[in-house]
Amino acid sequence: MNLPAQVRIVEVGPRDGLQNEKAPVSTAAKIRLIEDLAVAGLADIEAGAFVSPKWVPQMADSAAVLAGLQRDPMKRYPVLVPNLQGLEAALAAGAREVAVFAAASETFSQRNTNCSIAESIARFGPVMERARSAGVPVRGYISCVLGCPYEGEIAPASVAAVAKSLIELGCAEISLGDTIGVGTPLATQRMIGAVAERVPIPQLAAHFHDTYGQALANILAALQMGVAVVDASVAGLGGCPYAKGATGNVATEDVVFMLNGMGIETGIDLDALAAAGWRVLEHIGRAPSAGVSRALWQRRQKSQA
Ligand code: HMG
Ligand code: MG
Repeated sequence: MNLPAQVRIVEVGPRDGLQNEKAPVSTAAKIRLIEDLAVAGLADIEAGAFVSPKWVPQMADSAAVLAGLQRDPMKRYPVLVPNLQGLEAALAAGAREVAVFAAASETFSQRNTNCSIAESIARFGPVMERARSAGVPVRGYISCVLGCPYEGEIAPASVAAVAKSLIELGCAEISLGDTIGVGTPLATQRMIGAVAERVPIPQLAAHFHDTYGQALANILAALQMGVAVVDASVAGLGGCPYAKGATGNVATEDVVFMLNGMGIETGIDLDALAAAGWRVLEHIGRAPSAGVSRALWQRRQKSQA
């Protein structure tokens, strides 16, 4: 099997995860989570979003999170920006990496960002220019790459077209998001195959949600295509406020456990990662529910009994 020897995991829990948690999480708890994740070995930790607080109130304290964070100079703490206003606020708060987000579905684009796909791409022009002049690399997300809560199936060619536009704008990497978790392995490979005709595979990342329990199978299918960057969310935090039914990103612990078992290097300490997840779940008031996090939790409870 043609698999990468190492995988870079992009931890999206503090943003993609917490943006969708109903229980308030304090700025201090967010900072502690991000610092715990860095200690656990994550080198890319999405730290917040400079979006409209009316749309996503959970991310309204992102500037305070960046201000309070003890940053490891060897690590990256990207934030999401939807437009120039968001980018300016992110730069003022000290962000050194940002991400823009588009969708492969017209209806989702309207619901998530109040504009069409073409309008969102046009909006990114000045964002990319300003980021370039500030020396800040930009990641591009595409939502709904394997299905949309409003439109159903999405053609791989639509995903490939958006990916190509984002790369032409200057995005360094494209994260392919199965926002509602409906993808299955062969559909994943067909979609990645179509995108790979327009964007080199080393510039692609796999972003799966585990809504239907397919995330690990889809990640393996992506790895088999040569994708070596995987997004994941500690403790399976999250979903998306504009994607009904998106119950959670794949848990980072599950991805690390699978990759460890396959002898694929991630640089992450699984026990430290799980402990970081349990601490934030305590703030949210939930018990660990994602596979590996829950199993390790139960093992710890038994050993302490
Ligand atoms: P809009 O209402 O069309 O914006 O929203 P507008 O430009 O007309 O401005 C309206 C108001 O918003 C103004 O304030 C602006 O100042 C303010 P007012 O004058 O009414 O007081 N505003 C902002 N405030 C703070 N930061 C900003 C900003 N921009 C405008 N950056 C907009 C358009 C894009 C802003 C809005 O739709 C928005 O913020 N959407 C964000 C939605 C979001 O964050 N979704 C979740 C992230 S995407 C995701 O999770 C998927 C992903 O994880 C991949 C996957 O899982 O598939 C990436
Ligand atoms: Mg997501």
